[in-house]
Amino acid sequence: MSNEKRLKIAIQKSGRLAEQSLKLLEKSGITLAKSRDQLLCRAENFPLDIFLVRDDDIPAFLATDVCQLGILGQNALLEKQALGNGKFADLRQVLPLGYGKCRLSMAVPHDFPYQSLASLEGKVIATSYRGLLSDYLTANNIKADIVTMEGAVEVAPRTHLADVICDLVSTGSTLISNGLVEKDVILRSEAVLVSNNIADEQIAALAEKVTSRIKSVLLAKNSRYVMLNSPTDSLAAIKAVLPGSQSPAVMPRQGRDDIVAVHAVCEEGVFWDTMEELKANGAKSILVMPIEKMLD
Ligand code: PRP
Ligand code: ZN
Repeated sequence: MSNEKRLKIAIQKSGRLAEQSLKLLEKSGITLAKSRDQLLCRAENFPLDIFLVRDDDIPAFLATDVCQLGILGQNALLEKQALGNGKFADLRQVLPLGYGKCRLSMAVPHDFPYQSLASLEGKVIATSYRGLLSDYLTANNIKADIVTMEGAVEVAPRTHLADVICDLVSTGSTLISNGLVEKDVILRSEAVLVSNNIADEQIAALAEKVTSRIKSVLLAKNSRYVMLNSPTDSLAAIKAVLPGSQSPAVMPRQGRDDIVAVHAVCEEGVFWDTMEELKANGAKSILVMPIEKMLD
């Protein structure tokens, strides 16, 4: 057991993705042995070690093969790839994870006369995303000066460090409280599972297993188990209303030939209007239940 090979995954230690990334691993059946104040956590029940690091550093952990998998924002990965001179070219986005959604946007002070991107010609733009911004400006034929800042980009216009900014926007409240207005969206981003090229077969198999578990967790999270009674003669209409379900199970009810029971896994949200539509088509006793685990 002692020389058993272990997969290494890097996730954000603290910040916008940290909590949910850890939760996702836990839901995938990976139990952590140590407190998360440490850089390295060992999984108790899976040959996996978790590195808790700054998300900016995750691409380097992957590129140097200290870790083989990482969870980070697409923004952070693409920025490293934009700046990296090919150093990060082998890192692959394996699976979008549906959380940590944000966008990288241009934002200007209220009184800035913004008409189009061309209004930024010759201006000074503050950002933590020099790589993505300069690619975007080049692609749009705009020449501007870029001032790189590590954080607190939103204060740059007020302190006359820059005319406008290019920064991450999530809820938009940082922009509002700094008197800035969002303009062009340069990139939409969410958390993503990233892999390097895994040469070792055993490690690759472990990575495949973790990836497939995460896929299952995401699928289960978005899916619902629906049970209802359908009048036999409106079964076709009811099946058509069930969202994202392939071939539901249809079962007879004892002593009734006017109704059947329908059970279906719906791989989409089941909202009130869907339930009302089912009811309008004659469905009765409609139950919608969460699914804990799902493996195809
Ligand atoms: C980002 C961004 C803004 C804020 C936007 O910062 O730089 O400051 O989030 O979020 P909002 O639209 O919900 O207000 P982050 O939290 O990543 O920290 P940092 O700028 O200090 O790196
Ligand atoms: Zn910020």
